[in-house]
Amino acid sequence: MKTILLTGGCGFIGSNFVRMALARFPDCRVVNLDKLTYAGNPTNLAGLEAEPRYRFVHGDICDQALVDGLFSEEGFDAVVHFAAESHVDRSIEGPGEFIRTNITGTFTLLEATRRAWLAATKDQSPIANHRFVHVSTDEVYGSLGDTGHFTEETPYDPRSPYSASKASSDHLARAYQHTYGLPVLVTNCSNNYGPYQFPEKLIPLIINNAYTGKELPVYGDGKNVRDWLFVEDHCEALLTVLEKGTPGETYNIGGNNERQNIEIVHTVCDLLDQRCGTLPGGQDRRSLIIFVKDRPGHDRRYAIDAAKIRDELGWKPTVTFEEGIRRTIDWYLANEEWMASVVDGSYREYYNRMYTQR
Ligand SMILES: NC(=O)c1ccc[n+]([C@@H]2O[C@H](COP(=O)([O-])OP(=O)(O)OC[C@H]3O[C@@H](n4cnc5c(N)ncnc54)[C@H](O)[C@@H]3O)[C@@H](O)[C@H]2O)c1
Repeated sequence: MKTILLTGGCGFIGSNFVRMALARFPDCRVVNLDKLTYAGNPTNLAGLEAEPRYRFVHGDICDQALVDGLFSEEGFDAVVHFAAESHVDRSIEGPGEFIRTNITGTFTLLEATRRAWLAATKDQSPIANHRFVHVSTDEVYGSLGDTGHFTEETPYDPRSPYSASKASSDHLARAYQHTYGLPVLVTNCSNNYGPYQFPEKLIPLIINNAYTGKELPVYGDGKNVRDWLFVEDHCEALLTVLEKGTPGETYNIGGNNERQNIEIVHTVCDLLDQRCGTLPGGQDRRSLIIFVKDRPGHDRRYAIDAAKIRDELGWKPTVTFEEGIRRTIDWYLANEEWMASVVDGSYREYYNRMYTQR
């Protein structure tokens, strides 16, 4: 049986990945190391407590003794590294935790992996079939004008503390591959959406506010463009990279689905009006939109060229945006308790700082 160390498995993408990995590989065990920050929610994995192929470890990826100990105890065959501070606005408010988790945390994991995997072979060559998948973002490439796409060769140009910390972690991961021969694969993915996403991010924030009849804050002119990918398609791409990717390679992952933020907001409003009826008084949900002061340094456009992973590994997205956004809205409507449990006092304080005091 193969054992995977998965970091950040109680977050949005990690929790979707845990379920899909356990289903995909019946002979694998998953050990989920998660610090349970505000973004980590153990109920995202409710139902797995009794699963013998799953173990949850509450801890910090920056804790070298803990991570080394887990490697000795479990003898991991693969690492899939999701754990990160992941929200740009929070990185602007307080970059320190992003530097710590995203850079030092990745360094700690790479060190533990180097010690465990290279020490296990006499000639210090990497153990065959081991894999370290470093999950990263397209934001490391900077901002595009009206045309063009990010390829794996696009030079890095991170422009927020979040993207700079992720860029640093990507460089470290590649350096460990180049210097020590660690079997590292890096993925850079576009914006994800889907079930279990924390409501500080655009789509769940808009779903939650529009459903409950609150204002819908949109940054700037709302014309920033992102390439949106349904989370299960991202996880499927990561499973493909884990199984078939070549160590040392980088794979861009994207949905070929560019939308302006304001288009996303309109779509969510219209679907909720259709699903739940208009608001009391007959008001449609688009009337809740307000434009707020833009995020400092807000990147204008991201767009991914995902030809390499399609041509070399045979992955392509399978969920259209129309289907994905419907499934996402259905999930949030069916899981009101989940939303209520994550939108606690600290979230409300954060929300007020971001949107009502600007
Ligand atoms: N969400 C996106 O659209 C997107 C797109 C591309 C890449 N990514 C990358 O994918 C990864 C996962 O993103 P997400 O949206 O699921 O993030 P998330 O914020 O929902 O979850 C992050 C998880 O990491 C955990 N964590 C944070 N600091 C930790 C630490 N020091 N030690 C252990 N656990 C810690 C949190 O508790 C949480 O469970 C991140 O590396 C992110 O950069 C995200």
